[in-house]
Amino acid sequence: MTTLPLDTDRLRLRLFGPADLDDLYAYQRLPEVARYLYRPPLTRERCEESLARRADGTGWTRDGDDLVLAVCRRDEPGVVGEIVLKLASARAAQAEIGWVFHPAFGGRGYATEAARAAASLAFGALRVHRLFARLDTRNTGSVRVCERLGMRREAHLVENDLDGDEWGSEYVYALLAREWPARAV
Ligand SMILES: CC(C)(COP(=O)(O)OP(=O)(O)OC[C@H]1O[C@@H](n2cnc3c(N)ncnc32)[C@H](O)[C@@H]1OP(=O)(O)O)[C@@H](O)C(=O)NCCC(=O)NCCS
Repeated sequence: MTTLPLDTDRLRLRLFGPADLDDLYAYQRLPEVARYLYRPPLTRERCEESLARRADGTGWTRDGDDLVLAVCRRDEPGVVGEIVLKLASARAAQAEIGWVFHPAFGGRGYATEAARAAASLAFGALRVHRLFARLDTRNTGSVRVCERLGMRREAHLVENDLDGDEWGSEYVYALLAREWPARAV
């Protein structure tokens, strides 16, 4: 994609490559990272498979196509987290955004800074009309990222999923292209 990498003040967002396996596994293997993702932590093999799949290229034309961006610090080597954009409806230009960061790099604003850059990409080059996020209602860190992006809480789905053997509830946050970046704080 010609618009990549994306640079922000402190970060670079780029595609993942096979050399990122150790960094990817370092955060995806952690139970606290998977806590609200409704799936177990990833094995090293799963991380390897997902890198191999991503190496096949990235499309952005069909429902379900996704763009997984490795987030790196501009002044240090290594991947600290990722931002995922997923085309939920190509016809209606609807995309979902998600974020996963290594807790060692939490609390520094990296997730918000990277998500802002990804939102600009979505509303710009990717021509997304509406960007949304779905998150467990207990995931307060993620709620705060949505709110800093200026996303609107559009839904509170009560016990709409199972988290292991417990009911899980979900918020849906969203933002329209015409509201960006005016609503971001
Ligand atoms: C969700 C997640 C990305 C949030 O991470 P985070 O570190 O809280 O978010 P940010 O990187 O944007 O950091 C924000 C915090 O850094 C602080 N901060 C410190 N220095 C900062 C700086 N220079 N610039 C901006 N913010 C700074 C902010 O005040 C903010 O703190 P607050 O939330 O207490 O108000 C992270 O918890 C995570 O990866 N969780 C596991 C995966 C997950 O659940 N993903 C979401 C699925 S829906």
